[in-house]
Amino acid sequence: MPTTTMPTIPALASALTGVEDEIRKLATSSTVPIVNSFSGRITAAGGKRLRSVVMLAGSLALSGEIPDKAVTAAACVELLHAGSLVHDDLMDNAVERRGVPTVNAEWGPGPAVLVGDFMLARASQAALESISPYAAGKLAAAVTDLVEGQVLEVLDLYDVHRSPDSALRSVALKTGALFRVGCVLAAHCAAASDEVATRLSEYGAHFGLLFQILDDLLDLTSSVERLGKPVGNDIRQGVYTFPLLRSLTEEQRELLAARGGTWEDGELAGLLAGLRAGGMVAETVAYCRSLAEQTARALPEVPESEALGILRQLPVAYLEWAVSQIS
Ligand code: IPE
Ligand code: IPE
Ligand code: MG
Ligand code: MG
Repeated sequence: MPTTTMPTIPALASALTGVEDEIRKLATSSTVPIVNSFSGRITAAGGKRLRSVVMLAGSLALSGEIPDKAVTAAACVELLHAGSLVHDDLMDNAVERRGVPTVNAEWGPGPAVLVGDFMLARASQAALESISPYAAGKLAAAVTDLVEGQVLEVLDLYDVHRSPDSALRSVALKTGALFRVGCVLAAHCAAASDEVATRLSEYGAHFGLLFQILDDLLDLTSSVERLGKPVGNDIRQGVYTFPLLRSLTEEQRELLAARGGTWEDGELAGLLAGLRAGGMVAETVAYCRSLAEQTARALPEVPESEALGILRQLPVAYLEWAVSQIS
């Protein structure tokens, strides 16, 4: 969902501007200029900043303000997220991200490992310097979760009998962890009670799950023009995702098994059209609608506020936006 169409309030809008400044500084803080040009370009190329919106709204809902540390924490999460995308694009052989060429496509695989490493490490380092050892530790732990989620995905590559639950387990780690840590840090910066922090972190974990399932659906149903990244790439790369696994017919499963990683464009387009014509979109959207409600219900019991209202609406608003991106 582009930031401009997100529900917003002045305190949130100005904090998001602060996040952009911090991201720019952190992403270009290497002593080696070429690292800055790649890390700076991918972070400046956009991104929905959804993790930041959730974090900053969380901070506002919990403490009535957005302290500077929460702004820094959001920038650290965005930098970590972008670093993980540099690695992910290398793993996925992707050529475009946020509408610009990927580091692997332009500079090669080795440098993509290094640029991603720089961004991941810089995020925890900045948190240690500017927030707290606790925050740095939580960010580093989110990286280990993310890596484990990606490893689980790699273990299941091209497995046409991968179970939907196995896909969900990977998603909870690779994407849930980052939304969750954002919420944990928002609670930390607001000095919230353990109970409130736990509830907000559950909200983040559910949101991450919802978010990735919708991303997986869009990979099967949207277009590169709409998303600024390749579509249909999950199937080509052997990543059989939750929406796909839940709705494959036996015939489609056999086709996947027969083709593996080698698809003619037309045949893959035919499979995607068949999936769209079947129940996949409706089934996934229904699942996500219930997940969005569950996400909102996880919110902590804190006094009513505009920010809390945004957090309550955001899961369904994101779902509606994702549905609007289906071609
Ligand atoms: C992409 O995340 C990676 C996933 C977890 C699916 P986003 O869709 O939030 O990427 P940007 O930040 O908007 O580019
Ligand atoms: C990325 O998942 C997950 C990470 C945590 C890096 P995807 O592979 O689905 O992300 P996109 O679709 O490339 O953005
Ligand atoms: Mg990917
Ligand atoms: Mg994807």
